[in-house]
Amino acid sequence: GKGAAMVTAVAYRLAEQSRQIAQTLSEFRLTTDQLLEVKQRMRTEIQNGLSKATQESATVKMLPTFVCSTPDGTENGDFLALDLGGTNFRVLMVKIRSGKKRTVEMHNKIYAIPLEVMQGTGEELFDHIVHCISDFLDYMGMKNARLPLGFTFSFPCLQTSLDAGVLVTWTKGFKATDCEGEDVVGLLREAIKRREEFDLDVVAIVNDTVGTMMTCAYEEPTCEIGLIAGTGSNACYMEEMRNIEMIDSNEGRMCVNMEWGAFGDNGCLDDIRTEYDRAVDDFSLNPGKQRYEKMCSGMYLGEIVRNILIDLTKRGFLFRGQISETLKTRGIFETKFLSQIESDRLALLQVRSILQHLGLDSTCDDSIIVKEVCGAVSRRAAQLCGAGMAAVVDKIRENRGLDYLNITVGVDGTLYKLHPHFSRIMHKTVKELAPHCHVNFLLSEDGSGKGAALITAVGVRLRQEVNS
Ligand code: GLC
Repeated sequence: GKGAAMVTAVAYRLAEQSRQIAQTLSEFRLTTDQLLEVKQRMRTEIQNGLSKATQESATVKMLPTFVCSTPDGTENGDFLALDLGGTNFRVLMVKIRSGKKRTVEMHNKIYAIPLEVMQGTGEELFDHIVHCISDFLDYMGMKNARLPLGFTFSFPCLQTSLDAGVLVTWTKGFKATDCEGEDVVGLLREAIKRREEFDLDVVAIVNDTVGTMMTCAYEEPTCEIGLIAGTGSNACYMEEMRNIEMIDSNEGRMCVNMEWGAFGDNGCLDDIRTEYDRAVDDFSLNPGKQRYEKMCSGMYLGEIVRNILIDLTKRGFLFRGQISETLKTRGIFETKFLSQIESDRLALLQVRSILQHLGLDSTCDDSIIVKEVCGAVSRRAAQLCGAGMAAVVDKIRENRGLDYLNITVGVDGTLYKLHPHFSRIMHKTVKELAPHCHVNFLLSEDGSGKGAALITAVGVRLRQEVNS
């Protein structure tokens, strides 16, 4: 009768709806062959970044860091460290003691960087940083010592020495004027002078990947790679000096800050980017830039999810077809929410309450779909990150002429630490795509700050050696 026909119609509509949702999400599913292709392309871009002839136009910049060895345990002293460019801005005091019983003691304070400072003038940004240092030195009662300082500055910098680095371009949420093309250490020193309140000895500028690698290497000498899967995405590793054509020396190794977030900026990932990736990119602070990072890192995953949800809502599959103001708001899905939504311990009711909390009124079916969308996006992110890492470990293995490589990666970042599945999927992908490497992942606790201090310690020692 009529009732049965209606039931059939509803069933048909639901089946058709889930088919279409599955179809949309299938664009995020990458085959092993596609991932191997991504690995291969990363390998090509690594080569382009290392070779003199292609360096200038290369997207993956492979920046020299002037860090030529991992710690050896003789590092010693009291250091100040700054950590700018992750989720928080922090000032740290790090006391490193060498000898039989090596210890590292840390004190730190987190400071907010207001959006208007992040995107104001460079002078305002650096004045704010120095203001925070001043507050911290008061708090520690150490205004009078001229402490050596390591500056973890998590953006691409063209370094000419350990303590000089020109900002190539802002990434992530930063956009302060008059900084790109400038030596960041110079900007910091000038701001310290302007304040006329205390003096500091800026010894090193350090990328967060490098700080993370150094921190892990302090405990585990096989650590020769650093990885950040957080607000941004990037890696560094110990490359043979002879392969870094921008550096004249041919002896030994130097850590290279890959700046792999820019992978794909020449269009080489266009075949796997979806319309949602393009939308996220188009409306970002840096359109066309950091395309791989925009598919892999915490700052953007939520935005991809939001764009998919908007599309599914428009097509009538979600939220009763109503696009709320919340859903139109950029940046609502932070890493922390994605991580909660995808947690397996959470009942769907709790997913609903998270969405509710964000201002999204959902039905039970809605919450199932939202969770699926999050899963598809974060799984692809973990796999892409794994494909990049597979390229790196195989490169190192070939550098060393080994059939089999054993290596450790020091890792940090909110996505890696907070997300319930990201790390596992990433590890699995590396294993699959680089079967001739055994890759051990080591979580770095407080990587960037401690690492900056360790590098500063080495920098101070080298300077003393040169002077004596
Ligand atoms: C961005 C920065 C890079 C940093 C990464 C992780 O990709 O450009 O320097 O390492 O974020 O914070």
